[in-house]
Amino acid sequence: MSLQKEISKRRTFGIISHPDAGKTTLTEKLLLFGGAIQEAGAVKSNKIKKGATSDFMEIERQRGISVATSVLAFNYKNKKINILDTPGHKDFAEDTFRTLTAVDSVIVVIDVAKGVEEQTEKLVEVCRMRNIPMIVFINKLDREGKDAFDLLDEVEQKLGLKVTPLSFPIGMGYDFKGIYNIWEKNINLFSGDSRKNIEETIAFDDAENPELENIIGESHADSLRENLELAYEVYPNFDRDAYLKGELQPVFFGSALNNFGVRELLDCFIDLAPSPRAKESDTRLVNPNEEAFSGFVFKIHANMDPKHRDRLAFIKIVSGTFERNKPYLHVRNNKKLKFSSPNAFFAEKKEIVDISYAGDIVGLHDTGNFKIGDTLTQGEIMRFKGIPSFSPEHFRYINNADPMKSKQLEKGIDQLMDEGVAQLFTLELNGRKIIGTVGALQYEVIQYRLEHEYGAKCTYENFPVYKACWVEADDPKNEEYSEFLRVKQKFLAKDKKGQLVFLADSHFSIDMTKQKYPSVKLHYVSEYK
Ligand code: G4P
Repeated sequence: MSLQKEISKRRTFGIISHPDAGKTTLTEKLLLFGGAIQEAGAVKSNKIKKGATSDFMEIERQRGISVATSVLAFNYKNKKINILDTPGHKDFAEDTFRTLTAVDSVIVVIDVAKGVEEQTEKLVEVCRMRNIPMIVFINKLDREGKDAFDLLDEVEQKLGLKVTPLSFPIGMGYDFKGIYNIWEKNINLFSGDSRKNIEETIAFDDAENPELENIIGESHADSLRENLELAYEVYPNFDRDAYLKGELQPVFFGSALNNFGVRELLDCFIDLAPSPRAKESDTRLVNPNEEAFSGFVFKIHANMDPKHRDRLAFIKIVSGTFERNKPYLHVRNNKKLKFSSPNAFFAEKKEIVDISYAGDIVGLHDTGNFKIGDTLTQGEIMRFKGIPSFSPEHFRYINNADPMKSKQLEKGIDQLMDEGVAQLFTLELNGRKIIGTVGALQYEVIQYRLEHEYGAKCTYENFPVYKACWVEADDPKNEEYSEFLRVKQKFLAKDKKGQLVFLADSHFSIDMTKQKYPSVKLHYVSEYK
């Protein structure tokens, strides 16, 4: 099969949601439809239960599971589907942000009763910034929840999206009758039986048809007609180009647990969702159909086997094909590397493959060569953009608690940062090291892993920082910049790449700094150019 054909078959996407909205359940049902698993319950949730003090032990235990669920691939209707797992727990949001750099589209799951929740807002914002095409799935229609129009409003307002429903619910909760599929023009009747893979679907291209009363009863028929009329009036027609540009988001309703509305979502998804998209590098836009291979590391998974300190680097193939035993250029190290056992991922297992295509993810065994964001090519010198670091939420000094093991500590910190577990900042003034994380849980993880993997011990000390701001000077030689450097000396640090960062202790201090030094730009994201 030609390269182009193979690539156009691929759909690489992520499912994002606030914890408990139903991401795991939906993933599982999609796999069931793809025939990739045989029974429900096969996909282990790698979710971390809220508030458990032993959370980090749980992470350890689940690390094996989460590598298995990092990429779930299956074939469906002649399409190759790659679902990239995105941790729902907010302390691992950074991991999710990075995974979103490797998807070509996303499905956003929202709980019909809870509506738009905090974590959904953050994740959607990242997708919106990158114009990632999004489909919204409103879940748990078998339960009482918010009115459909209110929810659509909420999605538009809180998430800053422009939506158009492609299906519409008939009733809700105990009175849930089914869904009118605007896209396929049929009615899907709800039986409440999750074991059924295909529910009863009745073609119905005109809701005015008097037959409707016989099927869902008079009052439901009336309100469906009213709702559809209003929906057609208020929302724009679906326009695929607008969806692909990230300007319009289609919405579906259903119940993942009951396997209801999931087939419709999947069928529509494979029609609408984009095949692998082009990606910007520092020199040019790289097209997936180019013959020459290129790709980048978006995730590093450590310790698959506790006996060996091995890591698996996840590469998203941006263009061409990745072949086993072929030499590729590791651009940052300017070194050619060959991989004898690249892993491809299937529903619940990984396998060595000879060839993978743009859109696919390969896992490469790594002994410490890779960092998040590294680019691999067939020889071309370029670096893919778009794997920024975001300002952490928590900051602490890290101290060495065992002076005999300072080398081990350094190495451990270095490698954990390469994996993207947290961010390291080194204070300009005295060289002290500060660890920045998205969630407090990360500190326990780091401490635990330093001890168990590197034999090093650390303690933490609070360091009151509100946000890390990456500093960009309009003119590094001007007087204003020199003054900024002098006055703020105590709060300046370097990140791991050597970029200058201002560790602001309050929102007020950021505002004041911006006012006082207008030629110094402060960014909450490391990649601002
Ligand atoms: P997450 O990955 O987004 O965190 O959510 P997950 O799929 O684990 O679902 C969270 C809870 O919501 C689960 O219940 C799940 O069974 C339930 N759920 C998912 N989809 C639906 C749906 O369509 N209708 C209803 N009524 N419930 C749904 P749990 O009690 O937390 O877990 P479990 O013991 O059932 O696994």
